[in-house]
Amino acid sequence: MTAQSYEAETFRGGLAVITGAGSGIGAGLARRAAALGMRVVLADIDIDAATRVAAELTADGSEAWPEHVDVRDPSSVDELAARTYARGSVDLLISNAGVEHVGYAWEMSEESWQRTWEINVGGVFHGIRSFVPRMVETGRPARVWNVASIGAISGMPMQAAYIAGKHAVLGFTESLRMDLIEAGHPIEVAAILPAPVASRIFEDADLTTGDDAETAERVRAHMTELLAGAQTPDDAAHEIFRQGAAGEFYILPDEAYGEERMRVRSDRLRRREAPAAARRVE
Ligand SMILES: NC(=O)c1ccc[n+]([C@@H]2O[C@H](COP(=O)([O-])OP(=O)(O)OC[C@H]3O[C@@H](n4cnc5c(N)ncnc54)[C@H](O)[C@@H]3O)[C@@H](O)[C@H]2O)c1
Repeated sequence: MTAQSYEAETFRGGLAVITGAGSGIGAGLARRAAALGMRVVLADIDIDAATRVAAELTADGSEAWPEHVDVRDPSSVDELAARTYARGSVDLLISNAGVEHVGYAWEMSEESWQRTWEINVGGVFHGIRSFVPRMVETGRPARVWNVASIGAISGMPMQAAYIAGKHAVLGFTESLRMDLIEAGHPIEVAAILPAPVASRIFEDADLTTGDDAETAERVRAHMTELLAGAQTPDDAAHEIFRQGAAGEFYILPDEAYGEERMRVRSDRLRRREAPAAARRVE
């Protein structure tokens, strides 16, 4: 069986729900899920964006539904789960919605810290809290994929809240996998660690308004430019489904880059090497 037909065999006819599906990686994942024959719920706080992507999919003959969700809000995620289960039981949940913050750690406002943490970490937790009990109740095999980042295994200057949150998502997802194995539920878990992917995440980033706001603006401009030439969301999504079907826990959408970052991280830890100072972006 070819890799393509194995993936289609694995996912065809299933129901996927993807948060942050109105843009970037989430939209790429929704397109890939639909191409593999899945029915797709596209959940986003930006319902117009989710509606646009869903319309592309239905125009191509797929079943796709846009849904509003604010992943920070427990009752909003509960409502998403109830509306989704009214369509059928979920085979694949991808908690992907996420935001960036740029600025030195000591200049971050409490609001920025909370926004980043509540969306990037709280959103993943609420996805699990709302969907996994329903998956368990059906007793059917299902999958839960949480989007972390290569930033889950490295530090980055001026992104302390984002990086802290992505480390948390990875740790949470590792523990979740252990919990599900221990409890004996047939739910496969994976952590997705994207390298840079072309998206609008830095354009929408929260920026510090402190003394170093200008440096933050330069870093944001640099990252926006870097992402413009990065892996496309469709290529990332293709790799995510390929590795997910193969049962990888650590899904690396850019496999060569991801494996290199893992090697660097593990070498540094073994040598007890302090994080290297990054060159200042001028
Ligand atoms: N782009 C990259 O280089 C990169 C690298 C590593 C990890 N990631 C991760 O990938 C995920 C997707 O990011 P992206 O780059 O595609 O960004 P993006 O900004 O293009 O898309 C994020 C989507 O999340 C939605 N969203 C924001 N807040 C929300 C909320 N409260 N509730 C529901 N939806 C909300 C936005 O409306 C948007 O549609 C994020 O978790 C991000 O951290 C991205």
